Amino acid sequence: MCAAFAAAQQPEQNASKTEGKQWWRHAVFYEIYPRSFADSNNDGVGDLMGIASKLGYLKDLGADAIWITPCFPSPQVDFGYDVSDYESIDPVYGTLADFDTLAREAKRRGIHIILDFVVNHTSDQHKWFLDSRSSRTSAHRDWYIWRDGKGPGQPPNNWISDFGGSAWTFDATTGQYYYHMFDKAQPDLNWRNPAVKDAMFDVTRWWYKRGVSGFRLDAVDTLFEDPSLHDNPILPGVNAFGDPKEENKYNSKLPEVHDVLRGLRKIADEYDAALIGETWTTDIDELNRYYGDHDDELQLPMDFLFTTVNTLSAAEFRRQIAAVNAAKGWPTYVISNHDIVRSYDRYGDGQHNDQIAKLMAGMYLTLRGTPIMYYGEEIGMKTTPPMRREDVKDPIGLKGWPQEKGRDGERTPMQWDASENAGFSKGAPWLPVPDTYKTHNVATESKDAHSVLAFYKEVLKLRHTNDALLEGDYVALDETDPNVLSYLRASASETVLVVLNMSGTKQTSHFDFTHRGFSKVRKLIATGQSSAKGNDVTLEPYGVFLGELK
Ligand code: GLC
Repeated sequence: MCAAFAAAQQPEQNASKTEGKQWWRHAVFYEIYPRSFADSNNDGVGDLMGIASKLGYLKDLGADAIWITPCFPSPQVDFGYDVSDYESIDPVYGTLADFDTLAREAKRRGIHIILDFVVNHTSDQHKWFLDSRSSRTSAHRDWYIWRDGKGPGQPPNNWISDFGGSAWTFDATTGQYYYHMFDKAQPDLNWRNPAVKDAMFDVTRWWYKRGVSGFRLDAVDTLFEDPSLHDNPILPGVNAFGDPKEENKYNSKLPEVHDVLRGLRKIADEYDAALIGETWTTDIDELNRYYGDHDDELQLPMDFLFTTVNTLSAAEFRRQIAAVNAAKGWPTYVISNHDIVRSYDRYGDGQHNDQIAKLMAGMYLTLRGTPIMYYGEEIGMKTTPPMRREDVKDPIGLKGWPQEKGRDGERTPMQWDASENAGFSKGAPWLPVPDTYKTHNVATESKDAHSVLAFYKEVLKLRHTNDALLEGDYVALDETDPNVLSYLRASASETVLVVLNMSGTKQTSHFDFTHRGFSKVRKLIATGQSSAKGNDVTLEPYGVFLGELK
């Protein structure tokens, strides 16, 4: 196959040069689900000292920042996303002293700590909610959203919870309904109340002073609701829980969220901290809004567009990359997290999964932007959903079984070695270890130069030292090739060529860079037999080639 080089994009459009100093632009983020990462006290649940014991591994891998999903006191109905105290550590994960040790050890290695700030709701066991529900005149009554029903047994409106059923629960003590976008144990805070805003803003100051470098803001889309409680428009069909589908017109992405983000950013800036947003944007206008009109909201609104591309398609990825690259802020790329099927399974064909895992790494770790990895992705961990309802832990799976099996499958214990329980714990792990742990684990892959892990390390090492990969512009190459995705990353001093074969057959791409003043391609990293000869790059099935233009 022969394809001409198309200089379709002008590098100037990536106006990013002046902001090169911010640490979060060059950092590789690594998401840790603490229950499942490393268990230091062998109770079957991971903990903070477990994470501390793996900092050497993380540094060696090339992670510069760890985002720990909620580790605050919680009844664990939604495994920490139901916080009952924002300023402490849940005993299952350790103590505040453990957190301080982790923070100190991480800092020593130059690793930033990002905490997960559950801003939309608290646990129903938080003292604010306990007071709020105690009487209609309690001090915290207006910290949550309470309304009368439409009539006997009828909730205030038709809003549906993301976790199934009505988003309203009747509370007999005061005879009113409270609103919850998620589980009924996760009542929504009323962000229209300035006291809520002050208290939540103070939480961030409290953690910044303890050494935290930023927050991932959970469920920011749903912070505000229409105060008139208009019914949402009903869409055709039903969801996995059997509820009518609806458009979240009146309870998601309301403009008021931006005032809150500006407030949080102002405080973050005082501490040189980064704000990552769980922003389920559907288009670039929405994504752009999260950066703020004056770069005064989120530095890193997560771009989830990749997570909606569920097949290996050069055309689709090219389209999504071009869109995100043209956004006004610094892109944030994600291919897996604790809420979605792992990328290993979404893109894997069942036969070449390891090769495809390398291909995905070759793509998103070489793009212009900050990548957020998900633990286990670097060793090719697979999704292992529960087979029986009695094994399900996730509240979504419990409610939606069998249609919705929940998110346990992507939260299984990290696979450290080939010993019992994959070296995660000597106790019985809270979720079963996938059977692939014997081959896909850190110890075994560390000894294999061709493993997924070895490839991640190689790419991350290059990424940390290569100016083009750190700051260079993204220049799309052949825009029409259905099988090969290719692009340049070009800085003033270096130009890197990235060529990715998204097909199961051998491919050859022809390039001509003479008009850019380059006559040679020097291999930097390539999988298997993939190689360059003259102006041709030949890729094995699902092959990756990274080269430097000379
Ligand atoms: C976010 C979290 C998810 C959680 C939900 C409710 O989407 O990523 O795990 O269940 O918010 O807090």
